[in-house]
Amino acid sequence: MSDQPEVELEARLKEQAEFEPPESFVEQANVTDEGIYDEFEENWPDAWERAAELLDWESEWDQVLDDSNEPFYEWFVDGKLNASANCLDRHLDDRADEAAIEWIGELGETRTYTYEQLHREVNEFAAALRDQGVEEDDVVTMYMPMVPELPIAMLACARIGAPHSVVFAGFSADALAERMNSASSDLLVTCDGYYRRGEPLDHLEKARDGLGSVDGDVDTVIVDRLGDERSVDHNADEFDYDELVEANSGATVEPVVRDAEDMLFLMYTSGTTGKPKGVKHSTGGYLSYAAWTSQAVLDVKPDDNYWCSADIGWITGHSYIVYGPLALGTTSVMYEGTPDYPDKDRMWEIVDEYDVTQLYTAPTAIRAFMKWGSEYPAQHDLSSLRLLGTVGEPINPRAWKWYYKHIGNEECPVVDTWWQTETGGMMVTTIPAIGNMKPGSAGPPLPGISADIVDTNGDPVEAGRAGYLIVNKPWPGMLRTLYKNDERFIDEYWDEYSIPERDQWVYFPEDGAKIDDDGYITVLGRVDDVLNVSGHRLGTMEIESAIVGVEGVAEAAVVGGDHEMKGEAVYAYVITEDGQEESEAFHDEIIAAVEDAIGPIARPESVIFTPELPKTRSGKIMRRLLEDIANGEELGNTSTLRNPDVVHDIQKKVNQG
Ligand code: PRX
Repeated sequence: MSDQPEVELEARLKEQAEFEPPESFVEQANVTDEGIYDEFEENWPDAWERAAELLDWESEWDQVLDDSNEPFYEWFVDGKLNASANCLDRHLDDRADEAAIEWIGELGETRTYTYEQLHREVNEFAAALRDQGVEEDDVVTMYMPMVPELPIAMLACARIGAPHSVVFAGFSADALAERMNSASSDLLVTCDGYYRRGEPLDHLEKARDGLGSVDGDVDTVIVDRLGDERSVDHNADEFDYDELVEANSGATVEPVVRDAEDMLFLMYTSGTTGKPKGVKHSTGGYLSYAAWTSQAVLDVKPDDNYWCSADIGWITGHSYIVYGPLALGTTSVMYEGTPDYPDKDRMWEIVDEYDVTQLYTAPTAIRAFMKWGSEYPAQHDLSSLRLLGTVGEPINPRAWKWYYKHIGNEECPVVDTWWQTETGGMMVTTIPAIGNMKPGSAGPPLPGISADIVDTNGDPVEAGRAGYLIVNKPWPGMLRTLYKNDERFIDEYWDEYSIPERDQWVYFPEDGAKIDDDGYITVLGRVDDVLNVSGHRLGTMEIESAIVGVEGVAEAAVVGGDHEMKGEAVYAYVITEDGQEESEAFHDEIIAAVEDAIGPIARPESVIFTPELPKTRSGKIMRRLLEDIANGEELGNTSTLRNPDVVHDIQKKVNQG
């Protein structure tokens, strides 16, 4: 490629130019009519029937939205359906032999599940779950990496009306136990291990370790991922996945008819307190929303080879590897491994080999690809791609540009999608055939989504100024509550005190943002004590409580510092107890405690011992100053501190390394 386009692109980015949707994309896109925004506005909430109509219902809803008991909104009231039937059975007539899941293992092994095969194994495992005594509404926990048995187990649960709670495999044993106890879950589906960079990792030991702290009797189903690499001696309450499926060979399980509002799954996520929140998602509203956004934003069509490279252990994988794409009957590509094993072109090799049509990934991955260099994608034919997406963090314009040019060849629209575990699906992004792209800005709220940027009084802020992002109308994919904790749900999200003028429910996502004259929203990041490390959401309080649990630690404060690759990194400021040596060994002990409590993703980048923490006169830790120190920035206002000298002392210490 000549230098010229590069220069041109650079210049356009500098001018903050907008990029129009490529014509070739528009010609074939699912949603092209701009009028859709007005249609939702004029015909709200009934316009949402468009989403529900993407599904098959056992019986239709009587009412689109029941808002009589805000904030406990109900969508598609009295509608009945089954999520597994929607993701599998209804595709059997036309697409039985088409691939539902194309799985690629880390070692290069591959497995294709056609819709018929996936339907078969989901039925068999659903029968096995019943044999294990799982009943409707029992929560089944899954603690598995990216193996096909994970979506199979999820869909098997959905089939019998048992909500699943998937715990990211990178979380620690303690984190697993905490989530199982919170959900009173007594069945775990896990696996013996998995591969990372070609090396087998023991996962079962971690799972067993976690189960040691789970209340009650738990049965465990173990998937054999490592084959001969590892043999497992099962305890009395452990069952081999293959044997259970084999024992139910050819079984069919009638999908249980679920109410639209029945829980489809539970997903734990980090909040401001030390305890993760169990976000409850519904069957009808969530699935409609996942399907609708997959169709409208990711432009998913049945014949696509669509690839979302997230982990199913997070919400992105739930909505956009499993439920959205499969509800639409497409092929969902699923990759077990790391993007740079065996080499840094692994992703592009997969795109080339599988003729991937859409790629949905995270800015943190794009920053890594960029660092590795454009020669890796250049080795492969990426012309099958027609759309690119990002999610999880703000994307800086440079990374956006690299993605647009080197992966999309300037022919694919890029959708920068803002959403959260709680929202169930995308909320703010362009519709790729309609909206111009503005690098760094996610775009306008989707049709039917009413979002605004307000100040602390709840008044809209001027264009270009930072404020709080709020959503002021309900939407079908929204969380219904926090599991068994309606009170915390109201406390956390129904912020009537911070926005007193509003006598109306307002969803507060805890993100800062600004809005342009044309209604495009740029998300700036969290305004609560939640960090976003490589797109993973981590609560500072969770990390702090792990650190203060270490003997010899008196107090700790955790903040996020800027990080070139991870977006944010964990910085821990620690006060030791009198007599405790600030040794290397103690430092390592603190790091190990964080890894034990949460997992390696929460590992502090730096542990800084300090005699004091900067506090206001009322005793509140001034985290902002600690962030300034972590970022090597000039310190903000220190005049409200009870102990103004302390920040300079800490700064000196950090600078000395
Ligand atoms: O701060 C926002 C950031 O990720 C948070 C949600 O994290 P989680 O619930 O783990 O879900 C991640 C995947 C949907 C948000 O509060 N975030 C997500 N998408 C974007 C983003 N920040 C900026 N731009 C985005 N596109």
